[in-house]
Amino acid sequence: MKIAVIGAGLMGHALALVHALGGHSVRYTDSNPDTLAGALGLMKTALATLREAGEVGAEWTDARFEQAVRACPTIAETVEGAELIVEAVVEKPEVKRTVFAEIDRTAPMDAIIASNTSYLDIFPLMPERRLPRTLIAHWYTPPYLIDLCDVCGGERTDPAVVETVRRIVADMGKVPVVMKRFIPGYIANRIQSAISLEVNFLIDEGYATARDVDDAVIHGLALRIPILGHMAKADFTGLPMMQAALTNRMYTPPEVKGNSAELDKLVAAGRTGVMGGRGYFDWSDRSPAQLFAERDRKILALKKALRDIGPMEGT
Ligand SMILES: NC(=O)c1ccc[n+]([C@@H]2O[C@H](COP(=O)([O-])OP(=O)(O)OC[C@H]3O[C@@H](n4cnc5c(N)ncnc54)[C@H](O)[C@@H]3O)[C@@H](O)[C@H]2O)c1
Repeated sequence: MKIAVIGAGLMGHALALVHALGGHSVRYTDSNPDTLAGALGLMKTALATLREAGEVGAEWTDARFEQAVRACPTIAETVEGAELIVEAVVEKPEVKRTVFAEIDRTAPMDAIIASNTSYLDIFPLMPERRLPRTLIAHWYTPPYLIDLCDVCGGERTDPAVVETVRRIVADMGKVPVVMKRFIPGYIANRIQSAISLEVNFLIDEGYATARDVDDAVIHGLALRIPILGHMAKADFTGLPMMQAALTNRMYTPPEVKGNSAELDKLVAAGRTGVMGGRGYFDWSDRSPAQLFAERDRKILALKKALRDIGPMEGT
């Protein structure tokens, strides 16, 4: 299939990689010439990591990969003949609106337009005649490691288009989850936001440290989740117990304050996370590149182990 990726930043270059490795012919563009020029190098670094881990076969040499992707200077050239357009420009409504207008002027009328937006309702930003073939296909970073893709149509999206994109994603060995209708954050990001709300409360109010939180997450929550998810875990707990937790109002979520005192303090001190050398934890003994590579190797090893173990049958 001919795929056009618009925006080659953090997500865009990685989505170009995912679709090329999925067997598609990919053109990509970015309005920032430096980002556009650097994208192929980033894709090749990620490809090398995947090759090393055996996630892609040795036949995926850099030379073969370079045949599958092409950088283009303009949106018009990128979308020429495209069957699927993947939009991954900055999360700003006015930028997306301008990009959609340019896609509308230049792309084939039967092209499917899939936005990678994290939270925006992009449908009002799209020229009306494109709505039947517009939807959201939202990936997680980095999409060559994280398999989930939220697929979400708007009120005017043709259900056949939703099904086509679901199949394209599944055929690439990824995991599409089709939303019944749009809600900002879809499923995984909403759950993650709820976790952040709770964790910020526990830390700000002095109930726990960042280390305590991650010990609880890694050694408590995390072990069951890859096997059971959340809903099958409820079945193992027993649904009357889940019901009692609700009726007894065992849990009251913290107030949404719009900030966290501890987070504000860290950011003000320049502790921005891995890129700044320190965040909640001290990462200053390794470079960000080393840390990302180590993280990726460990995620790939975990994915391999999970494939061998398999999920619970029957869900
Ligand atoms: N970062 C994440 O973890 C993540 C995860 C899932 C989805 N998303 C979504 O993906 C989209 C892109 O996010 P990102 O993190 O890759 O941002 P990013 O800033 O790394 O990349 C966005 C790119 O868009 C380019 N751009 C801006 N205007 C453009 C135009 N008119 N034409 C072409 N390119 C243009 C920028 O130059 C930039 O390189 C956003 O909608 C974001 O919400 C991000």
